[in-house]
Amino acid sequence: MKHLIDPMDLTKQETDEIISLAQDIIAHRERYQGSMSHRKLATLFYEPSTRTRLSFTSAMMELGGNVLGFSDAKNASVSKGETVQDTVRVVGCFAEVIAMRHYIEGAQLYASEVSRVPIINAGDGSHSHPTQTLTDLLTIKRELGHIDGITIGFCGDLKFGRTVHSLIKALSRYENINVILIAPDELKLPGYIKHDVCELTGIPFREVSIMEEVMPELDVLYMTRVQKERFLDEDEFDRVKDSFVLDAARMALAKEKMAVLHPLPRVNEILTEVDDDPRAAYFRQVENGKFVREALIVKLHEWKDDPAHGMPETDEPIYNPEYRCANPKCICNNEHAPYKFRRTPAGKIRCWYCDSKIK
Ligand code: NCD
Repeated sequence: MKHLIDPMDLTKQETDEIISLAQDIIAHRERYQGSMSHRKLATLFYEPSTRTRLSFTSAMMELGGNVLGFSDAKNASVSKGETVQDTVRVVGCFAEVIAMRHYIEGAQLYASEVSRVPIINAGDGSHSHPTQTLTDLLTIKRELGHIDGITIGFCGDLKFGRTVHSLIKALSRYENINVILIAPDELKLPGYIKHDVCELTGIPFREVSIMEEVMPELDVLYMTRVQKERFLDEDEFDRVKDSFVLDAARMALAKEKMAVLHPLPRVNEILTEVDDDPRAAYFRQVENGKFVREALIVKLHEWKDDPAHGMPETDEPIYNPEYRCANPKCICNNEHAPYKFRRTPAGKIRCWYCDSKIK
């Protein structure tokens, strides 16, 4: 059964099919109304959300389906100590598909191991956010007409920004992508994305600390919020919180045909004076998120019992009683998920659930 936990759970072809279907839904909305009638989506949100949860809800409603779930884990049985695996076993009796957001990394992957309905990862800690990636790909396609060949600058919190990690992974399968990473030292992209994704797939990337220097090169500028809730040390957050601000003066340095994306919410990293610039695509991006989630729900339903659309093949996991995941926010350090690891093509051992190193 197909789940969407990581952007690489979809083949490039499946990703492109979802994006094309989203474009068809935009062009012929009436054709898809009712395609999910009498079906239910459960939204299990253990972490705050506005856009993602409402966009899943709105997507399912547009398709004529129904939505149930919770937006605050305090109201759910987790507050009584229920594990995510038990929760999805239960919710799978009530809904045909589950969208889950969790502050614990790897929670959805662990949940998918026992679920009888498809699980969609709507964000796990600072790890992954594959439906935002589909939203971003559709937005780039609609704004620029193509995804291949772009130079994209990622700016802000590249360390904790899960949308950045997932989008870089997905872009690694397109042609001639050029990545520029704009971040202060404290917020640089994690090593596993740099080495296991960029270096292994050969995406050229460079790291800079001055935004103005690279503005004229960019086809896409992907702005992000500094993820306050992920910092363990408040002083460190204060030091980096105002690192990069996009304003009209900086926009004046950019190409005439450039697209500014932001997964939102923004705090202060894009001044409101930029909002009326035709290159500011972030509110159009929100609406694309609804269409792409409609397409995803339709496709996961269609693929559910089709062996041609299962999960990607993986190597056997490594169990070694001496290995422990180094990430305190990983599911294996929070619930009774097993300590389970994989070897990367570069020979490194990483946690099966969250990609962290071993300790
Ligand atoms: C992002 C997220 O939750 O990771 N928002 C979203 O889903 N649109 C980005 C963020 O919170 O900064």
